[in-house]
Amino acid sequence: MMSLPMPTLFGRATAIFDAHKTLHKTVAQLYDLCARLMSGRQVAAAELHALVGVFSVQLREHFSSEEEDDYFGTLARSSAEAGELVAVLHVEHADMRDGLDELARLVEGRASSGELAECLNALLDQFNDHEKKESRAMQQYLREGKECRQSPPVPPYSSPP
Ligand SMILES: [Fe+2]
Ligand SMILES: [Fe+2]
Repeated sequence: MMSLPMPTLFGRATAIFDAHKTLHKTVAQLYDLCARLMSGRQVAAAELHALVGVFSVQLREHFSSEEEDDYFGTLARSSAEAGELVAVLHVEHADMRDGLDELARLVEGRASSGELAECLNALLDQFNDHEKKESRAMQQYLREGKECRQSPPVPPYSSPP
């Protein structure tokens, strides 16, 4: 009977789950910032720099962690369908890294509130869509594991005890 390498994956998945929780707090703060930018309310340059800087660091670290062989690699090898999905996720990571670069350029260049809000909002929406795909890749992996082991899987995105 085929057996999928769950313990290593779940060690990584737990760390990634924690990173998701942290990131989602930052994303909520950034959506709020976006709303303020779009409504014409004053946003302090220091706040904008700090929050965009934190988001950039968190997102880049998160992507690097996900791209490790014990996470994306493990998922990608589990089935052809998961492999195709992981390839898409890799491309999206690269795209969002470019989006972060563009956002940094706009912040440094003192772009208008409208330009900043548009760029930021697009990046946040892209990240949310990406997270949903990632969750599907993990669900696919778990389905494969369930078929192989005939035992119920541990959900990867639930809080660790
Ligand atoms: Fe990702
Ligand atoms: Fe993620």
